[in-house]
Amino acid sequence: MARPSAAIIHLDHIEYNFQLAQQLTGGDCIAVVKANAYGHGMVEVAQHLSPHAKVFAVCSTEEAARLRLAGIVQPILLMEGAFARDDVLFAAQYNCWLAIADESQIDTLAKCQLDTALTVFLKVDTGMHRLGVSPEGVARLLARLTNLPQVAGQPLLMSHFACADEPQHPLTITQLKLLDQLNDDFQGHDFSTANSAAIVSGRARGDRWSRPGIMLYGAEPLLEGNEHTAKLRPAMSLVSEVIAVREISAGDSVGYGAAWVAERPSRIATVAIGYADGYPRSAVNGTPVFVAGQVCPLVGRVSMDMICVDVTDAPQAKVGSDVELWGEHLSIDTIAAHAGTISYELTARMPMRTPRIYQASQQ
Ligand SMILES: Cc1ncc(COP(=O)(O)O)c(C=O)c1O
Repeated sequence: MARPSAAIIHLDHIEYNFQLAQQLTGGDCIAVVKANAYGHGMVEVAQHLSPHAKVFAVCSTEEAARLRLAGIVQPILLMEGAFARDDVLFAAQYNCWLAIADESQIDTLAKCQLDTALTVFLKVDTGMHRLGVSPEGVARLLARLTNLPQVAGQPLLMSHFACADEPQHPLTITQLKLLDQLNDDFQGHDFSTANSAAIVSGRARGDRWSRPGIMLYGAEPLLEGNEHTAKLRPAMSLVSEVIAVREISAGDSVGYGAAWVAERPSRIATVAIGYADGYPRSAVNGTPVFVAGQVCPLVGRVSMDMICVDVTDAPQAKVGSDVELWGEHLSIDTIAAHAGTISYELTARMPMRTPRIYQASQQ
């Protein structure tokens, strides 16, 4: 029998979440499938979204090449731009859209002989202070880009929010004001600004192309959810089974470092999932685990291949019982909070060893 740990990927939920994103924007959504579609499987996700998504977004030509090899024909936005001249040539050959984050990338582009002109997104730093040109430099750089034969049509303007998960954060307000100003100053240029959090906060109305990532995968984009995020459907269920059950006495410890000690006689279930399967080692005692239809607390340290759960109050739990680590019954955001991280990291770091089982329709 196969080891029971697996990540079940609900492609139908990803499609539903994409349609929800699409309804909340004024334009179209670019499906962000970088980092192996946040761990869900880039090729499978892109193939499933292909009838709906007009454009995909990744971070590198290597990721774009995987999509092309899998038969994806839509344009692919390279969100981090070209790292070298070869990336520009690749973009022209394989119908990729290119983010331009500084003037040196324009210099590189200007030196390339291209058979096909490229759609380019000039990335503007409105407050994230990570990548992008300053708002003051936009007019000059847009003029440079517009005059290049390597550039197709009007360059688009792209920006990214630093605190979109907190819609009323002062920096979000500052970024929005700057974007309003850019909209006024550069009419005739299309914009791409909104990530998931901005989309569900109603801030994608001015976008030609929004860029939802995490909401496609059904995790909560906002610090405090709203009526839109309540509709998101979780795309990944991390599951396994109980492989052993034992009775221990009060005072007995469980797992490495004896980091949890039973206060009462306890039943402990061992589950075949560990940090090598993508369950975070940093999950603390008490992290909820859904065992045999009931939420029970994680006890002791997470091992490479196993965890232990206190099932004293779940007498129905036995060897072979189903376990959900996150998914339909336990939100991945709750587990991430217990592990001191965010849902993005949990799914994006899902290792190869964990089989992905794809479901395209509700069973
Ligand atoms: C430039 C850019 N746009 C869009 C996204 C998607 O963001 P989210 O997953 O929060 O929707 C990301 C994610 O890191 C990004 O870096």
